Amino acid sequence: MTTTRPGPVVVLVGPPGAGKSTVARRLSERLGVGFRDTDHDIEQHVGTSVQDVFVDHGEAHFRTLEEQAVARALDEHEGVLALGGGAVLSEATRELLKRHRVVFLDVGLAAGVKRAGVNGNRPLLLGNVRGRLKALMDHRRPLYEEVATYTIVTDTLDAAAVTDRALQLI
Ligand code: S3P
Repeated sequence: MTTTRPGPVVVLVGPPGAGKSTVARRLSERLGVGFRDTDHDIEQHVGTSVQDVFVDHGEAHFRTLEEQAVARALDEHEGVLALGGGAVLSEATRELLKRHRVVFLDVGLAAGVKRAGVNGNRPLLLGNVRGRLKALMDHRRPLYEEVATYTIVTDTLDAAAVTDRALQLI
């Protein structure tokens, strides 16, 4: 591993269903460093769930909280950091991410639907997981690519294999 930069050892980005949280947890165990997840940071900060923030205050408010949470975590955290799937929508966040080692966990639609559909608490996917996930992936792919230091296509890999691949890369 060749890290000299301050901040997280590695930051994971990618759409819902890419496996960011699972892989981040495994990576942090393998590396013996801490794990942080900005969705969790936001929930701690506001005292409710991400889902409730969307329902009660709307997506724009969530994005403001997210931008702040990501900036804070990039500044403070020295372990593995997983971002919410939409964090890259913020240009300010993308600029910050370009100073860090970022792994884009890429996933095709079929595998993404299978994984994201299992977890029913994703407000942006409610009602039509496949259609919404496709639109979201099409829109965000260039944004993930813009910030990615490395990309791992996860479709045919399980979490252990993705973790191994990430460890080879970083
Ligand atoms: C979102 C993804 C979620 C969470 C919020 C919005 C998105 O995180 O931040 O529901 O816009 O893609 P995961 O990517 O961990 O599901």
